Amino acid sequence: MIEISNVNKSFPTKDGTVVALDNVELDIGKGDFVSIVGPSGCGKSTLMMCVAGLAQPSAGRITIENQQVTGPVTDVGIVFQDALLLDWRNVLDNVLFQIEMRGLPKADYRDRALALLKRVGLASFENKYPWELSGGMRQRVALCRALVHDPPLLLMDEPFGALDTLTRDQMNIDLLNLCEGGNKTVLFITHSISEAIFLSDRVIVMSQRPGRVVEDIRISFDEERKLDIRSIPRFVEYEKRIYHTFRKLGVLSG
Ligand SMILES: Nc1ncnc2c1ncn2[C@@H]1O[C@H](COP(=O)(O)OP(=O)(O)OP(=O)(O)O)[C@@H](O)[C@H]1O
Ligand SMILES: [Mg+2]
Repeated sequence: MIEISNVNKSFPTKDGTVVALDNVELDIGKGDFVSIVGPSGCGKSTLMMCVAGLAQPSAGRITIENQQVTGPVTDVGIVFQDALLLDWRNVLDNVLFQIEMRGLPKADYRDRALALLKRVGLASFENKYPWELSGGMRQRVALCRALVHDPPLLLMDEPFGALDTLTRDQMNIDLLNLCEGGNKTVLFITHSISEAIFLSDRVIVMSQRPGRVVEDIRISFDEERKLDIRSIPRFVEYEKRIYHTFRKLGVLSG
């Protein structure tokens, strides 16, 4: 689905060139849920912006379904750390904004938007305004907006970072449910090692800047993905392995 080949990204700044990404190589299969973890500033958001076509690599190449990314990718849903809702639109119209911007008939997507809102626990909130919602609710609306046009690809940059632990847990469950069936490819950026393992088929570990891929771990469980899976030995082993890598890299010490 996504091929990232030898991608470098540098930013010229007044203090010299900042090399954000160094020869990043990563292939993501159709239907895979792939998380990226790495220290702050290592280039995760930069990589996602390049995949979305919102930034161009300085060198290397990114293709999505064999098409080189040269400008903004359209058949995608994107969720950022902030919900970025429009304050003057109610919840339903915020979700349907995606449809309007694509020039699609809004009436055809109304039921789907309402069904998505229901699935994330916002059944009776469609007429509320963003300022009437909690942070977690706003982020759920953003998730529905990213999914309403049923994109094959979801790009998520630390979408749950600002949420409290319980809401975050709930969002993780909601996201797995929404992606059920395996017809969505997800590239998910997170600071949480546990969240990455819980959600993903693969966890990619990146080094400090300039970011490169240092580990690619396939995650699989015999058990169903419920929250208590986080205490089973296999889960803990994955966590240990990633922490060990961060210690080896010098990201963590002691
Ligand atoms: N537009 C820009 N101009 C100059 N430097 C930039 C720009 N965007 C990012 N950088 C630099 O590139 C590096 C990677 O930034 P990026 O935002 O991708 O990191 P990140 O891994 O997403 O960090 P975090 O986990 O804190 O979100 C940083 O050193 C940052 O200062
Ligand atoms: Mg970032």
